[in-house]
Amino acid sequence: MSNTSQNTPGNTPQIPPKVGIDRITFATPNCYLSMKDLAIARGIDPNKFTIGIGQSQQAVPPNHQDIVTLGAQAALPLMPYIDSNRLKMVIVGTESGVDASKSSALYIHKLLNLSAWVRCVEVKEACYGGTAALMMARDYVLVHPGAQVLVIAADIARYGVGTPGEVTQGAGAVAMLVSENPRVLQINDDSVVKSAEIQDFWRPVYQSTALARGKFSTEQYIRMFCDVWQRYSAENACNFNDFEAICFHLPYTKMGLKALRAGLEENSGAPHSCDGAPTTDDTRERLLARYQDSTQYSRRIGNIYTGSLYLGLISLLDYDYFRNSCDSSESACDLSSATHSNESPTRPSPLLPGQKIGLFSYGSGAVAEFFSATLVPGWRSALFSNQHIKTLNNRTQLTVSQYEEMFNSAAPYSPQDFVSSQKNRSGARFVLDSIKSQERNYRSI
Ligand code: HMG
Repeated sequence: MSNTSQNTPGNTPQIPPKVGIDRITFATPNCYLSMKDLAIARGIDPNKFTIGIGQSQQAVPPNHQDIVTLGAQAALPLMPYIDSNRLKMVIVGTESGVDASKSSALYIHKLLNLSAWVRCVEVKEACYGGTAALMMARDYVLVHPGAQVLVIAADIARYGVGTPGEVTQGAGAVAMLVSENPRVLQINDDSVVKSAEIQDFWRPVYQSTALARGKFSTEQYIRMFCDVWQRYSAENACNFNDFEAICFHLPYTKMGLKALRAGLEENSGAPHSCDGAPTTDDTRERLLARYQDSTQYSRRIGNIYTGSLYLGLISLLDYDYFRNSCDSSESACDLSSATHSNESPTRPSPLLPGQKIGLFSYGSGAVAEFFSATLVPGWRSALFSNQHIKTLNNRTQLTVSQYEEMFNSAAPYSPQDFVSSQKNRSGARFVLDSIKSQERNYRSI
């Protein structure tokens, strides 16, 4: 499917509006755990976590935060750009929903004091839910040019203390405003999506922690990437050389790298290689270097499920901003925490309008989609880069026992009443105060 003009009954060609991401930002809890500390506490070589898995830190949510408060917090910086006459939908993609029936979008809608004249819904398909929401938003705006849609992808990834998945936990939300003539990225009409019922990861409604067939899930991720990439490249007559960068769903930062390598090592006979057109050395270096940029935030936050792909996109854009546009007197521009590993010694050149970014979305269960987005002129001035890095740098580091206590004190999946902790509230603009008689009570602070 290409982005061609459509014919009206009168045979006058209509140019479809340019639709995409007008603004994009994220929120994450103000506490984190070092993965070195976690490895030592679990009797594991820290290099396994920091190199083998590729995680340095993990966001830990205090029990007054859930996907509602994180989602509202993520959307807050977008409020000045939301026109209440144009906003038509609030769509939350999540797999950590707080109710099996009521949409979290309604709680967020109230906390943000949005217009009543909107459609509020929640969508679910594991980590793919954020992309489902984004595509629904894009399609709506294509049919209703002038409309705005607020898309929120919010999750808390919980596997359990001492489990193999523990190192990949995380928490956060990405908020995107979708409109015509977007200021950051135009979403192209070129996507390929595949669904296949598999049992690689799931979470029964009665429990707060996920169940995963770890190794099997990583194999399914790579297989689905190869499948959608091969079909995408055939349908759109393109190859990796046509992309300036490719962002991946990042359950942990090594995962996308495995898939990217599978794509780059085509025809190599490697166990998980995708077949495809030859990739030039320049492309290989560029995609690996840009991959490192796209993983900087996830390396410090962990898996945020539905938002992970979009956190990677923000990281890609912000690190380009820090390298090329930041005033060096700003502390936020200090890239010393960035890790450009041996995988990509190259410093990428500045991103330019018109360049294409590939996006690979994977949700266990499983749905996978590959699509592209094109940078629009002036995109750098629409970012929130300095705010993002300050949020990360101002977090409080926890000890392993503080993390375990917080993990075990999360609001229960049970009918009992709950009152949240007063601790670690700095920076939080919305809190879950209590659950009384099975009703959740949120407020702004
Ligand atoms: P594990 O068994 O703890 O780890 O599980 P491992 O033994 O496979 O080792 C991991 C890597 O560390 C390996 O590298 C080791 O060689 C390396 P690889 O071969 O993979 O390149 N390693 C070391 N490196 C340096 N120094 C050392 C060292 N020791 C070992 N000393 C696993 C890891 C990811 C499976 C586990 O954490 C897990 O189950 N995680 C949860 C599931 C998951 O994240 N799956 C990813 C794909 S599914 C997905 O993306 C969807 C998801 O987001 C959910 C959704 O859609 O909703 C999860």
